[in-house]
Amino acid sequence: MAHEHMADLLDLDAEVLGEYHREVAGWVSANLTERARVIDVGAGTGTGTLALARQLPDAEVVALDVDGEMLKRIQDKARASGLADRIRTVQADLDQAWPDGLKAADLVWAANSMHHMGDPARAVAQIYQMLRPGGLLAVTELESFPRFLTDPAGAALEERIHTAMARGRDEAGMHMHEDWPARFAEAGFAVESERRFAIALRPPPDSPAAAAVTRYAMVTLSRARHGLEDKLSAGDIADLDALATTLPARNDLTVRTSRTVWLARKPAG
Ligand SMILES: C[S@@+](CC[C@H](N)C(=O)[O-])C[C@H]1O[C@@H](n2cnc3c(N)ncnc32)[C@H](O)[C@@H]1O
Repeated sequence: MAHEHMADLLDLDAEVLGEYHREVAGWVSANLTERARVIDVGAGTGTGTLALARQLPDAEVVALDVDGEMLKRIQDKARASGLADRIRTVQADLDQAWPDGLKAADLVWAANSMHHMGDPARAVAQIYQMLRPGGLLAVTELESFPRFLTDPAGAALEERIHTAMARGRDEAGMHMHEDWPARFAEAGFAVESERRFAIALRPPPDSPAAAAVTRYAMVTLSRARHGLEDKLSAGDIADLDALATTLPARNDLTVRTSRTVWLARKPAG
């Protein structure tokens, strides 16, 4: 169930932030040839895998993830999009041995996955090994899940949820405060660029995009409701229960989130 929620959340992120995902994939792909060999580290439900396969018409993309259900969603999407011949999935726990045989990649892409790695420095060093000389690493990290509510009470509730979530991530040992450019440089990469994308989206009321934003808000707040039961007050839980009923009728939801993307290159010679 928890997995389903995360997979649904990732698919909604891909749908609602489609323009952002295409922009980043286009920007990164501009550094590559169409026949690039790409590895998506912590690929989830394949947002990056599919976006890169579409941007680079002859690229081969390998999606790595520990979670077989996520990889199955990628396989289904690859088949449905006619991309199955260029997308391969490999199940691996990257806190253990990294898969053999993935060598000489032109691009390693890791979106919102590096903070999950038990040992970030080791993960960056493994990625360095998988790239060809001159190959590119593109890492995206986010500060937190998106916010949706703009009314003062709703915004304050989301603020408390985000504080509790951040505490939970720290307690779980996730690396949300890592100095990524320092990790890249230590591994031997030259950091070429850093871009922060600040996203604020309020689709027209009653549009399909607005319906997707509502679903994204419902899944996000439901996850908070069930995952933070012991970290939020009874009043906040009651407010979240009420929102589960009232959200579908609201037309003031605004998605706010920010992502930072770094490009780092393995030296050519
Ligand atoms: C927040 S999701 C991001 C998914 C995708 N990159 C995206 O941008 O939508 C993080 C992903 O990292 C995967 N992951 C976490 N720890 C992992 C590990 N030790 N080895 C492999 N994958 C891992 C999770 O299963 C999940 O699919």
